[in-house]
Amino acid sequence: MSEDIEKKLETIPKAIFFDEKEDRFFILDQTKLPVEEVIEEQKDLNQVYDSIYMLKVRGAPAIGIAGAYGLLISLKEHIDRPLDEFIKIVEQNAEYLNSSRPTAVNLSWALNKLSKIAKNFPKSSSSKELYKAIRDEAIAIHKSDIKTCREIGENGAELIKEGFGVLTLCNAGALATGGIGTALAPMYVAWSKGVRFKAYSSETRPLLQGARITCWELNKFGVDTTMIADSVSSYLMKLGKVDMIVVGADRVANNGDTANKIGTLSLAVNAKHYGIPFYIACPYSTIDVDTKTGDGIVVEERGAQELIYIKGQQIAPKDIKVFNPAFDVTDNSLISGFITEKGIIRAPYDFSKSAKSE
Ligand code: MRU
Repeated sequence: MSEDIEKKLETIPKAIFFDEKEDRFFILDQTKLPVEEVIEEQKDLNQVYDSIYMLKVRGAPAIGIAGAYGLLISLKEHIDRPLDEFIKIVEQNAEYLNSSRPTAVNLSWALNKLSKIAKNFPKSSSSKELYKAIRDEAIAIHKSDIKTCREIGENGAELIKEGFGVLTLCNAGALATGGIGTALAPMYVAWSKGVRFKAYSSETRPLLQGARITCWELNKFGVDTTMIADSVSSYLMKLGKVDMIVVGADRVANNGDTANKIGTLSLAVNAKHYGIPFYIACPYSTIDVDTKTGDGIVVEERGAQELIYIKGQQIAPKDIKVFNPAFDVTDNSLISGFITEKGIIRAPYDFSKSAKSE
């Protein structure tokens, strides 16, 4: 990649900041986008829990990184305690943060890594030494995600051809990760290399991550982006405007069944009908080989108020019954391939054969 392209990719906005000098952790509050860009320091465990639950920080890889830094900053005030007490606090705080959102596996993946370090730490060491080991691992998780996103971008960019229409849902961009995103990474890399295509961003009701975040990110970078209402996607395909669909993932089962933002399944079913390639872009940290099929994935259900109100404005009867799953699970048979840091993986899927051991 040329220096110019590298420089351009560095201008993509970031979701998470860690000040290594003072061990301070900040996030871009995504609930305020695109109207305001507010960076908020995260100072304690409950604040981090709420930020993840309220989607101030969101997207599977980003909540894994936020969970890791959140755990770290929650330990600062306990650093002078005896090691056995400190280890218990690590485990309790990790468990608490992990309960903030159930579907994205990256959160438990990152927190389990840190808990394991605590559990296996030499008993002759100090709490300060354990704090440092957890700090090093949290930073490593963040840095490795930056690299992984770039690799996903390079691998997926090959699929985007001049003149393509590329449809995405929700936000699997830079703001959902530590780096340049998963589903949007191939778009950023292809665009930087001079490939001209049209991106379509589905608005993503009810929380509008597509409208508020994906459109903002892509537009800022200069990608030719058109927003559609979610209900337009099948018509867009029928009109022949979509050559490829690429979305992210919150948890991929060992057989390739994939949990992602609600609406992903309808896109995949429609893509099959119209013969359009349907890709999932995700890092291996989103692949959960211990969950054999999609039936084992817990889908987060969120409150009725997210559908009854838009930005505080009531749009439906207050007492209406609401079903509000945040995710759905797409059958592996509808997926053309997984764009990962290790390349494009195609069926038959059995990720236990290629997953990292950690
Ligand atoms: O509820 P959200 O906004 O956290 O949902 C995000 C998604 O569904 C993303 O597609 C997924 O986490 C992949 S992010 C690279």
